Amino acid sequence: MTNEFSHLRAGGAAGSIVADPSARPEAIEADAIVTFLTEGGIGSGTVAEIDRATGGLLSRLTAAGEITGKRYECVPVLAAPGLKAGQLVVVGLGKREDLDAGVLYRAAATASKHLAGRPRAKVVFVADGSWSTRQTEQAVAGAAVGMVGQDLYRAEKKRTRFGSAVWLVAAAEAVARGVVIGEGVNLARRLVNMPADDLYPQTFSEEAAAVAGRTGMEIEIWDEEQLARERCHAILAVGRGSSRAPRLVILRYRGPGAHDGQPDIALVGKGVTFDSGGLSLKPSDSMLTMKCDMSGGAAMLAAAATIAALKLPVNLVVAIGLVENMTGPAAYKLGDVITARSGTTIEIHNTDAEGRVVLADVLDVVRGFKPKRIIDAATLTGACMVALGHDVAGLFTNDQPCCDDLARAARAVGEPVWQLPMYADYDEQIRSDVADIKNVGDGRWGGAITAAKFLERFVGGIPWTHVDIAGPAFAEKPRPWIDGGGTGSLVRPLVELVRGPE
Ligand code: BES
Ligand code: MN
Ligand code: ZN
Repeated sequence: MTNEFSHLRAGGAAGSIVADPSARPEAIEADAIVTFLTEGGIGSGTVAEIDRATGGLLSRLTAAGEITGKRYECVPVLAAPGLKAGQLVVVGLGKREDLDAGVLYRAAATASKHLAGRPRAKVVFVADGSWSTRQTEQAVAGAAVGMVGQDLYRAEKKRTRFGSAVWLVAAAEAVARGVVIGEGVNLARRLVNMPADDLYPQTFSEEAAAVAGRTGMEIEIWDEEQLARERCHAILAVGRGSSRAPRLVILRYRGPGAHDGQPDIALVGKGVTFDSGGLSLKPSDSMLTMKCDMSGGAAMLAAAATIAALKLPVNLVVAIGLVENMTGPAAYKLGDVITARSGTTIEIHNTDAEGRVVLADVLDVVRGFKPKRIIDAATLTGACMVALGHDVAGLFTNDQPCCDDLARAARAVGEPVWQLPMYADYDEQIRSDVADIKNVGDGRWGGAITAAKFLERFVGGIPWTHVDIAGPAFAEKPRPWIDGGGTGSLVRPLVELVRGPE
């Protein structure tokens, strides 16, 4: 079976990823065969078959301690006897009892990233019959993510997509879905990795239109005039310092069997295509990676595209607020009071707390669709990184079940999340003397929470969860399983959320 996933890819070289459930590893001609090994040893799964085919080579290497099966260990065995493939790559999964979909995603990505360091015509991955369908899907997704790097603009690529990839011992449908999910993650990564001079509000909205066209979603793009007619003064204020005018992208997806009424979920994304800090200018070091400040928007677009490509039965509305936060002559200023679309007035104490100002209007727009729940994703605060580090997303909610669902989904696919409290006491910190609220708390303590408290003022009591992805959205350094740059975080959790538990 072949599958077409070009609806998530923006052109580029083809490369099929397919399943061949019945083929035998030893008989396949390929550049490489990838096999997965747990710390417990070879056992009786497909690794054992490969061990037999190679005359016990894997047994000897594990006995000698050359291969341990520790998590994400990646050992290439060149010219293994008994195999037609040029090399066998053995990837560690860690302890069998701790094996889950998230580990498989990273392990497959590790092998893929390693092999994609050179052009490869054909790579074979050997799944295991003991994996659940979701686990297989996440492994396939990881393999699709690992072979793509961040060198969009380099003549000499560090990673090259495989000419073709074949999954053995995996159901064709699971492989096809895994590819769609992996390409969804890659879509978000590509957008995040584009420099701000190429990806600005208008070009982001054009990318969204192209994605909508490929996946059959409806799209509406509000330009400056439309934003003014819609009283989106908060979005317009943040955008005023830039020569690149703001946009609001609204997407609709109605899945098969989804009723025509209220959207089940509204996905809201922060799309600050570059955050200089505005007049509260960031120091140079903090500004360097601020092309990543549209990661929430990219995650929501990519998640919706993936959900649409998988034809999941759900009714979605997606809204992405796109602005560039700059210091031009018309830039919004400290002390300004902005009347947001909802009528709430906001006193600006720091123009670098721009994400929440933009989201104030975006949240108000989605409220109008009367969704059953709202999830927003934003690289909102450095404070969230101080609290949780680089790898963990912060969760904030006004409705515990809504938050629990998302936390379950994130953990199921191996993305760590942690909820922070929303005590009413924090509300006092965003009181203003001259307006309804101000856009920062008193001092910097609890800054991730005061930011969430600000957003809460604009969701009108609809069950809502805010995800602060300032840490996980962008990796300054490469990890064993993924190159540096955009990570595509939150795409897999959102797809998992819509699907529900396996
Ligand atoms: N986009 C930043 C937050 C951020 C920081 C994202 C680091 C990714 C990595 C956000 O707009 C911001 O500047 N927040 C300020 C808020 C402060 C001025 C209240 C911050 O966190 O310092
Ligand atoms: Mn900022
Ligand atoms: Zn920002």
